Amino acid sequence: MARILAVGIGALDIINEVEGYPPEDAEVRAVGQRITCGGNATNTLTVLSLLGHQSCLAAVLANDFAGEQLRQGLVRHHIDLGACRIERQGRTPTSYICLNRLNGSRTIVHYRKLSEYRFSDFVGLDLSAYDWLHFEGRNVQDTRNMIDRARKEYPELPVSVEIEKSRPGIEVLFKGVDLLLIGQDYARSKGFTDPQHFLLAMADRVGDCNMVCAWGAGGARVQGRHGEMYLCPAYIPAEIVDTLGAGDTFNAGFIDARLQGRGLKAALEAANYLAGRKCAMVGYEGLALS
Ligand code: FRU
Repeated sequence: MARILAVGIGALDIINEVEGYPPEDAEVRAVGQRITCGGNATNTLTVLSLLGHQSCLAAVLANDFAGEQLRQGLVRHHIDLGACRIERQGRTPTSYICLNRLNGSRTIVHYRKLSEYRFSDFVGLDLSAYDWLHFEGRNVQDTRNMIDRARKEYPELPVSVEIEKSRPGIEVLFKGVDLLLIGQDYARSKGFTDPQHFLLAMADRVGDCNMVCAWGAGGARVQGRHGEMYLCPAYIPAEIVDTLGAGDTFNAGFIDARLQGRGLKAALEAANYLAGRKCAMVGYEGLALS
């Protein structure tokens, strides 16, 4: 068991399951509903916790009704909230999600009115308590400062950063980390149409870092810091029922495998398989069963 601190957001996910994505301006009945905790870092921690690790979240939590629901969900998933800041003003980030039962697609409308987790929240944390640090790529300058602090004071502590999509200045997070977990949305926003060419271009630019890019049904690739590259075709289950958080699950799988000392190829295969299995089940709980 390892202790992982993830800096990112906690959101309340209100998931309506529908039998087919509704046309605009239609009124349709949901065939199921779940309210659960979400947010990329939170989902990654949820999965890491199911895999037997001690998950700790560093996020801003609001003091409203949704915030209480969110807190209960996080505690249920055994996520430690000691590093979180509670904000009296502001609202719990909320995602309204349409989950299509026919193909597992998830359409997300996300609302947020809450401050970001800042460097000043992070500066007092005792980082010696953790075996791995994971950051959502957002709130760029503060996140950069957090990474710099970790690097300076605990150079041996592994640091991963998730780059899900393009945000202004996000490239400042590329340097001085061990692992970049990059989503295809980011690669596409830079004009790439496949992970191989994208990672080769990244390696030229970033250098000393392991980089992973998951491309949905197109499989996943890792580019190691010594130039090694591996491809893993997507693991596509017989029935896809819920793709919400599949990318976050992939990231958890990769981190878990590296914590277990696995090499890049084995970690890629493990993450890929875990994310595929997740798509075959509702939520994450079933991932705990091997
Ligand atoms: C899925 C997810 C949801 C969350 C939304 C935030 O990756 O993290 O759980 O509500 O994305 O953008």
